[in-house]
Amino acid sequence: MSKKPWSGRFQENTHKAVEAFTVSVTYDKRLYAYDIEGSCAHCRMLEKTGLISSDECQKIINGLQEIKKEIDEGKFPFRVELEDIHMNIEARLLEKIGPVGGKLHTARSRNDQVLLDLRLYLRDELGEIFQSLLALQEVLVLQAKKYLGVILPGYTHLQRAQPVLFSHHLMAYFEMFQRDKERFSDCLKRVNVCPLGAGALSGSTLPIDRLMTAKLLNFPSVTNNSLDTVSDRDFCLEFLSSASILAVHFSRMSEELILWSTSEFSFIDLPDAFCTGSSLMPQKKNPDVPELIRGKTGRVFGHLMGLLTVMKSLPLTYNRDLQEDKEAIFDTIDTVKRIFSVIIPLWENMVIRSEVMYEAASDEMMLATDLADYLVRQGVAFRDAHHIIGQVVGFCEKKGKKFSDLTLKEWRQFSSFFKEDIKLLLNPQASVEAKKSIGGTTTSQVQQAIDKAERFFKGERCED
Ligand code: ARG
Repeated sequence: MSKKPWSGRFQENTHKAVEAFTVSVTYDKRLYAYDIEGSCAHCRMLEKTGLISSDECQKIINGLQEIKKEIDEGKFPFRVELEDIHMNIEARLLEKIGPVGGKLHTARSRNDQVLLDLRLYLRDELGEIFQSLLALQEVLVLQAKKYLGVILPGYTHLQRAQPVLFSHHLMAYFEMFQRDKERFSDCLKRVNVCPLGAGALSGSTLPIDRLMTAKLLNFPSVTNNSLDTVSDRDFCLEFLSSASILAVHFSRMSEELILWSTSEFSFIDLPDAFCTGSSLMPQKKNPDVPELIRGKTGRVFGHLMGLLTVMKSLPLTYNRDLQEDKEAIFDTIDTVKRIFSVIIPLWENMVIRSEVMYEAASDEMMLATDLADYLVRQGVAFRDAHHIIGQVVGFCEKKGKKFSDLTLKEWRQFSSFFKEDIKLLLNPQASVEAKKSIGGTTTSQVQQAIDKAERFFKGERCED
């Protein structure tokens, strides 16, 4: 049976080109398990409220379970002319159990049904993304622990600025992904609301029990306004914007990995298994994985921009434009998952070149701010101290000397506040260990951040 539900009203069959243009089952079949789960809950509610009998309810649920099995096993006859997953399943139900199947759609519209499916699906996917973020954070913290003590230059404007612990840098990524988790958790609050019962747009004349359906599907609440329910895609936009910020983080991290793996930096060695060669240049080992991660940011942003554009100017309530929401969501989820599948093992297998990092961090010019702070501690105003150290830097550059080459006499030509102990500042460790302000790069603070993260991981697991 592939007659359309609206055939009573129509004199003509749908044009083939229109069917091909409007079809969504080619991709929304991904929602089938949620569609069936939602339909079973809806059916139980119809039984409880007396809209269908127990016998009818059982027949429908059995039929739906059989359909689920057919789809699971790849035996379901998907039909393009039936537009979407909802109509494909309903038509198959009618084929299987006869006219009683026609009772399933009582007090329901595809407008609220599609939202139910999407919300159930996104709820699960958000859980998975959260777990992947956690797994990525765990790898970062593990590396931060392993390499605690390794120093590299910290950069501003991509110019060497001040020495920092490599682990401090890793824990910066940890913080970025922590905020991503918070954003996805917050998004989940808006996703996790049951839309079923809004009907096509204004609710139902039948005595449905929305709270019961919501409870059966583990939704803590139901949507408030039926018009808003069927036209709202804010939760999709929130998801796409959270995913876009996550993509920014992936991309920035990738950019650093690409830079760090160049001969110019040589801070890391990417594992061969994560690189590709050149078909022409025998010596090449290219960082394609982080490059592709960086590149995939484009499609994630694109989906956010795409759906924002679909939504703008849409009058209430449901408009078919809204069908464009799903591919954006699906491709974003697939992309994010693919990135996790490579970025986690990449971090696990990367070679960290501590000696090269340290060598770069030993550039004494990066200690200039610490030297200015030294003068501040002697009572010199910071602006004056900055000027004095600027002069010392200029002197060193002119003479081709390092700070540590200067004699005390030379130091004192610039300020009488310089004493013998100035020499104690002239190494990257001293600089790192002096950054004691909250959130600074001292070993003990980074260790505390690692400890806190580990306690946090334990807590997260207990909650599961
Ligand atoms: N396939 C549709 C979508 O994704 C389902 C809802 C269709 N509703 C309608 N009134 N045509 O949005």
